[in-house]
Amino acid sequence: PGDDHVRIVEVGPRDGLQNEKKAIPQHTKIELISRLARTGLTDIEAGSFVAPRWVPQMAGSDSILQHILTSPPQSPGPINFSFLAPNARGLKNAQEVLKLHTLDASNRNTIEISVFAAASESFSQKNLNCDIATSLERFKEVIQGAKAHDLRVRGYISVVLGCPFEGRDISPQRVAEIATNLLEMGVDEISLGDTTGMGTGPSTRSLLKAMHAAGIQNEDIACHFHDTYGQALVNTAVSLEHGIRIFDSSVGGLGGCPYSPGATGNVATEDMVYFIDSLGMKTGIDLPALAEIGEWISGEIDRSNASNVGKAILGS
Ligand code: HMG
Ligand code: MG
Repeated sequence: PGDDHVRIVEVGPRDGLQNEKKAIPQHTKIELISRLARTGLTDIEAGSFVAPRWVPQMAGSDSILQHILTSPPQSPGPINFSFLAPNARGLKNAQEVLKLHTLDASNRNTIEISVFAAASESFSQKNLNCDIATSLERFKEVIQGAKAHDLRVRGYISVVLGCPFEGRDISPQRVAEIATNLLEMGVDEISLGDTTGMGTGPSTRSLLKAMHAAGIQNEDIACHFHDTYGQALVNTAVSLEHGIRIFDSSVGGLGGCPYSPGATGNVATEDMVYFIDSLGMKTGIDLPALAEIGEWISGEIDRSNASNVGKAILGS
């Protein structure tokens, strides 16, 4: 891919749905993934191997993984499907499914495991029930175990531009230090999570400068913006200017974080694709198809469509 290609990581089936109180039927989740797979997306975050007591909506991610392995959704090209795993138990649960069902070689799909650290101690406690150092220690085992089975690994860092408990004063140097730790442990990519949506153009720029100063390559960085304050596309513009080419987003702007009170969804994938298209850059994603999916899934979970672009395209 050239410098004008942007890779979108669709996180709707995981980040978008994890916070929904009402249990979403498994067939709806699978239908969402199948529909998304047909749009040209190359990366779909499909579930989460976390404690069901903590995030009930993600229980059943094992059968989502099984479905992806045994009846791969139709797609124009290979898809990288990712699943969160916060500890060895999560990885083990994923591996049990992977042991039983090998990837269908014909479609060249890949499976990725994501670990997730936090940039603030309070958020780490709320989200993982341990401090940052302990979480990194646990991730070491997850990363090594995943790598031993040739799985790609992503390392999230949450609350990088603001924490619901500690406010906006998150040290960019501390984020870069955690990112460096994760990369040294073997993660293939860092995703910088603006969990609260508190990020602004200037704070995004400072963070990316700190990442650069720590010697972290743009190719190893994804930006994950939530649109709580409506700044996600501004922050995306700043990140693109800085040379970032990987962005996370969620169809229909679904989502929130169970441990980040008040946080709304990720930036909508429709809005992201429209914006990137408008710059003459490429995502390879079929925008009208995506808009239909955003409208459909919003209806399925009794939410209003949170994508401005989706609503505009559909005239709704
Ligand atoms: P804990 O309570 O300290 O764990 O939670 P524990 O080891 O004491 O285990 C408690 C129970 O959970 C035990 O079961 C374990 O077996 C079970 P019990 O004996 O009570 O029946 N357990 C598990 N079950 C299934 N899968 C597992 C697992 N681990 C333990 N992997 C723990 C620690 C990490 C498990 C918990 O805090 C947890 O699951 N946290 C996940 C929270 C989460 O999923 N948050 C949302 C994702 S992060 C996010 O959204 C941000 C992001 O989008 C980026 C951004 O926006 O910034 C990525
Ligand atoms: Mg998130």
